[in-house]
Amino acid sequence: MSSPVRIAPSILSADFARLGEEVRAIEAAGADWVHFDVMDNHYVPNLTIGPGVCEAIRPHVQIPIDVHLMVEPVDALVPLFAKAGANIITFHPEASRHVDRSLALIRDHGCQAGLVFNPATPLAWLDHVMDKVDVVLLMSVNPGFGGQAFIPATLAKLRLARARIDAHVRAGGAPIALEVDGGVKTDNIRHIVAAGADMCVAGSAVFGAPDADGGYRQVMQALKTAAAQALTS
Ligand code: DX5
Ligand code: ZN
Repeated sequence: MSSPVRIAPSILSADFARLGEEVRAIEAAGADWVHFDVMDNHYVPNLTIGPGVCEAIRPHVQIPIDVHLMVEPVDALVPLFAKAGANIITFHPEASRHVDRSLALIRDHGCQAGLVFNPATPLAWLDHVMDKVDVVLLMSVNPGFGGQAFIPATLAKLRLARARIDAHVRAGGAPIALEVDGGVKTDNIRHIVAAGADMCVAGSAVFGAPDADGGYRQVMQALKTAAAQALTS
């Protein structure tokens, strides 16, 4: 593996009263994507932000906005987020009646499409749709809250997902990003990357640092340095 690992700070742990400032700060600190967690108090037991907030932060950053839909049903929100400036839209397959249709809908609206796998959700959901997927997102916590501990069984699942994606590319398929979400910190990112992740979400790890002293930049650099060790060793 040669390409560097990318980091997507999750704004779930940002100061919502200063969101424009917060997304500008993470972009300046070297963030690759803005991870945008959408919760509906139905698919997950929490309630967060919608297309209006996506539209509000869009002019503040150049980097892609990675919308993680933890909602049921899925399809009605896709056009709204595409219009609000989302670049990547991922959803949980159990939350859509027609997974193939939801994936196609996302691409039809000009966004990259992804499937999200909860810790107990099997990768078999990928079986017949690999050619319609741009991102595979493995949850390393149960969705709904920031600041939870990384579930170690995710590492074995990551290796399986990596093998599936590599086989798909060897067979002529387009590249697929392998993203991990939940409990990613400077002290475990090395193992996560070694297991095959090329995109890591980090919420509390990044926004838990005080930005006043360049803390976001320090954490971002520490995450990227630790991740790079996995690729060189
Ligand atoms: C959890 C969210 C995650 C979360 C990550 O449901 O999807 O994106 O914000 O936060 P940390 O990095 O604190 O686990
Ligand atoms: Zn997320």
